[in-house]
Amino acid sequence: MKALVLGSGAGGGVPQWNCGCRVCRMAWDGDARVKPRTQSSLAVSADGESWLLLNASIDLRQQVLATPALQPKGEGRHSPIAAALLTNTDVDHAAGLLALRERQPFTLWGTQSTLDTIGANRIFDVVGRDIVPRRAVKLGEPFEPLAGLRLELFAVPGKAPLWLEEGEVKTDQIGEGTVGVVVEAGGRKLVYAPGCAHVTGDLKTRIAEAHALFFDGTLFSDDEMIANGLGDKTGRRMGHMPVSGPGGSLEELSAYAHMRRILIHINNSNPILIEGSPEEAKVKAAGWDIAFDGMEVTP
Ligand code: MLT
Ligand code: MN
Ligand code: ZN
Repeated sequence: MKALVLGSGAGGGVPQWNCGCRVCRMAWDGDARVKPRTQSSLAVSADGESWLLLNASIDLRQQVLATPALQPKGEGRHSPIAAALLTNTDVDHAAGLLALRERQPFTLWGTQSTLDTIGANRIFDVVGRDIVPRRAVKLGEPFEPLAGLRLELFAVPGKAPLWLEEGEVKTDQIGEGTVGVVVEAGGRKLVYAPGCAHVTGDLKTRIAEAHALFFDGTLFSDDEMIANGLGDKTGRRMGHMPVSGPGGSLEELSAYAHMRRILIHINNSNPILIEGSPEEAKVKAAGWDIAFDGMEVTP
């Protein structure tokens, strides 16, 4: 199995169009210590020919331009992208479907809840249902979106997408709204969970059986958006547990140091994106890698 990081950033990417925070400023200025990043998505394949997208980022077109494996082979219409799966309906994970609208057959996978949300928004009908069937899968029931690639979805605590928030928002709902994915091929397993409000026993069990983990690296500190004057929400309010601090991912997932652990969906406010920063050093010392666009992982 091969996994390609198409996008390693959280919503907005790096630099974000309207942001001059410390990390974005360095990226705008072309400082080599900060790599530009597009928004969160992985491509996985068992044979290197057909690829499954795990989330369809709003930057998908740019990601295909940067990724030869995903470009058409031969003449006429063709794409190695044969399937796409959404882990939730956040804009950064779902809006990329609109970039796949040129009458190309593939299969769209998700929980019933995710497909219902997409189905209720008619703009997504531009991706013709006649050639792009939508296939609902139940949590905990393995399926094979591509030959040789076995997947299983499991609930991770999360919240409704920002564009559907109303009233009092529950930030750690367990259900079909936010899922993690186990991908298995040739006896190797990876877990992908780009959004997670807190670590559950179920998630720990899944991680313990895997060879590689791509995990929610949105914020380093829970309050970093507020502390930097970039917003009024904590990470936890956004449904993302922080990397550092009590209950953060370094602490919660310290038992899995033997496996490949990679932070992904990293917000532009997060100082781990600055190479040579103390925060980057702390994460690396704890045995974690920091995803970058174009990273290739063989679990
Ligand atoms: C998130 O990851 O919290 C969302 O992508 C936020 C958003 O939709 O802007
Ligand atoms: Mn996001
Ligand atoms: Zn920024």
